[in-house]
Amino acid sequence: MRITVVDLFEKKKEKRKITMLTAYDYPFASLVEEAGLDMILVGDSLSMVVQGNETTLPVTMEEMIYHTKIVVKATKRVMVVADMPFMSYQVSVEEAIRNAGRLVKEGGAQAVKLEGGREIINHVKGITEAEIPVIGHLGLTPQAVLRMGGYKLQGKVPEQAKRIKEDALRLQDAGAVAIVLEVIPAELAKEITENLEIPTIGIGAGPHCDGQVLVIHDLLGLFERFTPKFVKKYTNLREEALLAIRKYKEEVESGKFPDETHSF
Ligand code: KIV
Repeated sequence: MRITVVDLFEKKKEKRKITMLTAYDYPFASLVEEAGLDMILVGDSLSMVVQGNETTLPVTMEEMIYHTKIVVKATKRVMVVADMPFMSYQVSVEEAIRNAGRLVKEGGAQAVKLEGGREIINHVKGITEAEIPVIGHLGLTPQAVLRMGGYKLQGKVPEQAKRIKEDALRLQDAGAVAIVLEVIPAELAKEITENLEIPTIGIGAGPHCDGQVLVIHDLLGLFERFTPKFVKKYTNLREEALLAIRKYKEEVESGKFPDETHSF
């Protein structure tokens, strides 16, 4: 049986931290499952860390469904959340419900995640009324990078902080089952977490959230273009992989590989 939203609520009540990482394919999803985390986010960060785009904007619904299917196939226990990509929900409530439905029905996701606050409240209500669990996303919302002018700390000034706090309550009232808080001051995340009945999952939002999420390519040291302050690289797989690939090249060129043990 997979982890469900009920388990997330219990974890919040019992003050046990929720663990979440992104994954986009079979090998990484099976590693996250085997390591015993609660949730996988098939994030639209796929656009940047897998497809090599500058932003999260280009990734499509078809691509999100494709990757969600693979992650679901690779796992049995972890809860799989699919990101709704840019322009799959903004245009209308009806389109948002239809696309959320596709991520669940075709992709096999157990929940969907949408970025934004008051401007998407009716979308969150509509998707929730279609019996699909919705996770909100406030603070730095990467799909708004053009308006925000970069990936910057949000909620620093009092009006911004007030807006984020109000939006968190509105999302909860609209039926959201959890909220991702990205790149906001730790004290603001603490206040929001204490005010909400639903769990918060932080990324660059300090230690007081009910759970944490990171992009798996960041944690493993596989994304080389930039490293935000909030990322902790637990290893440097890119360096390790480069060493291995260079060694293979050398050995093929020198005739050392394949040797007898790797031949028939
Ligand atoms: O797409 C993603 O990976 C995300 C996380 C950064 C929360 O939305």
